[in-house]
Amino acid sequence: MLRSDRWVSGDDEVAMEHRVALLSAGVAVDRGGGRPLIGIANSASELNPCNLPLKDLIGAVRAGIEAGGGVPVEFPVMSLGEDLMKPTAMLYRNLLAIEIEETLRSYPLDGVVLLANCDKTVPGALMGAASTGLPALVVTGGARPSCRFRGERLGTGTALWRLWDERRRGALDDAGWQELEACLAQGRGACNTMGTASTMAILSEVLGLAFPGTSTIPAGDPRSAEGARRAGRRVAQLARLGESTFAGCGEASFRNALRVLNAIGGSTNAVLHLAALAGRLGVRFELDEVDSLGREVPLLVDVEPSGSRLVQDLDAAGGVPALLGVLGELLEPEPLLGDGRSTGAHVASAPAPSGPALRSREAPLAAGGAFRVVRGTLAPDGAVLKRSSASPELLRHRGRAVVFRSYQEMRARIDDPALEVDASSVLVLSGCGPVGAPGMPEWGMIPIPRRLLEAGVRDMVRISDARMSGTSYGTVYLHLAPEAAVGGPLALVRDGDEIEVDADSGRLDLLVGEEELRRRAAAWRPPEPVTRRGWLSLYQAHVTQAPQGCDFDFLGPAAGEPRLVEPVVGRS
Ligand code: FES
Repeated sequence: MLRSDRWVSGDDEVAMEHRVALLSAGVAVDRGGGRPLIGIANSASELNPCNLPLKDLIGAVRAGIEAGGGVPVEFPVMSLGEDLMKPTAMLYRNLLAIEIEETLRSYPLDGVVLLANCDKTVPGALMGAASTGLPALVVTGGARPSCRFRGERLGTGTALWRLWDERRRGALDDAGWQELEACLAQGRGACNTMGTASTMAILSEVLGLAFPGTSTIPAGDPRSAEGARRAGRRVAQLARLGESTFAGCGEASFRNALRVLNAIGGSTNAVLHLAALAGRLGVRFELDEVDSLGREVPLLVDVEPSGSRLVQDLDAAGGVPALLGVLGELLEPEPLLGDGRSTGAHVASAPAPSGPALRSREAPLAAGGAFRVVRGTLAPDGAVLKRSSASPELLRHRGRAVVFRSYQEMRARIDDPALEVDASSVLVLSGCGPVGAPGMPEWGMIPIPRRLLEAGVRDMVRISDARMSGTSYGTVYLHLAPEAAVGGPLALVRDGDEIEVDADSGRLDLLVGEEELRRRAAAWRPPEPVTRRGWLSLYQAHVTQAPQGCDFDFLGPAAGEPRLVEPVVGRS
């Protein structure tokens, strides 16, 4: 018996009411039930151009669900647009997850196809569906086209951050800046660099939560529709069999995801999302494995910001199927992918790489892992560095802190000629973690002070409890835990303190005596909550720290609790 049959099968007034409601929406179901109702969670929105290509895929998903013996039912979900939502879309990732979990729980649905693209929509949707255990696959909308600016091919994000620095140091005039704005309006689709959207799409494929071969297809490419159709069919088939995509998503799947994250030089945000998703599934996830597993994996994908090309180039080189083939025995073969075949089977039948964006293991972009996890007196519970986009000469560094206690203070002071800073300084931004901001915005790539930019400085050691965009770069230590707002050592740093980092040894230390730190800690007071009402209040009260993925403390799997608490199905 299908889950939805509890709503629609039968001869009483309750079942009739449910069938009438569905039929009134154009969804015909049999009196005896027997065909799975498959939701299409649609996050397309004009507030979020990254997700707009998803509108064009709904018909293909519907066709696939019907081909798989299911009944498609489309419903809207909130759209987390990275560019426009403030202070950050991350503040609402858990809300999207709750929305999807509760929609699936309260409606007669047997599975779901998750239409998501922009950064937080993919992990939010997967976290919500994972909490139900119903079969689900994510269908992404692809990366947007690239543009040309003064003869140079530009991708999303990375080029803007670089050219903003050029503008700040006076190398890009008003006309150029306006010209750039027109260029960057490249149309619909996700960031075409290795931002969080591309990273999470690729990792969804590796986790078996997207249909193989779909995650790098550019927006508007006709192949997207076929991928969407196959995803719909697969979810309907699984629902009929009473099986779930999440059943095969275990520790080995996550270890493979971490290996691939290193191979692609992916977004640091993925570390948080993987931790949160693993938490929803009750799967062990260790922050240190981001580093330890990665050290065996070469950086193979030449896409900005770790490389120089774009996601469409990776697709042309064979996408994830070819990448899996290059990684070969570095991956564990058992985990199932989204078509039900094992990773090992995919590796064995992988196409050869067919373009320069995917390197061979003999000639990688870099060796030894794209990420480092560091710990020490400044980050007892860990911090993350994307080594593949950092400056090698800054990986071991000792310098004096220049401290900003908020984003607003940093923006106000960073270009102040009186700021006591030089190229060896360590820029510190605190109060921007999951509780502090709240929502842990992407403020971690602190701008280089204008005076230093003009002197030719392009990178400095930067440290914060914030996140940064996957499109960002530099020697930027992120996600320091515990964060300043809950009394982490970051709250105790003062201007002029010495900080020592050694990325490859995994150390991040504040060189201040214990007695002095105890004195500062005794004087520290937690910040007042932003508000005592609404979502922000709930968020600040329950969000976990970065190593736990910034999920809510009440949304992990409680021991002995069924994953999906079924509602009583009776008169409404
Ligand atoms: Fe939406 Fe980058 S801003 S994917």
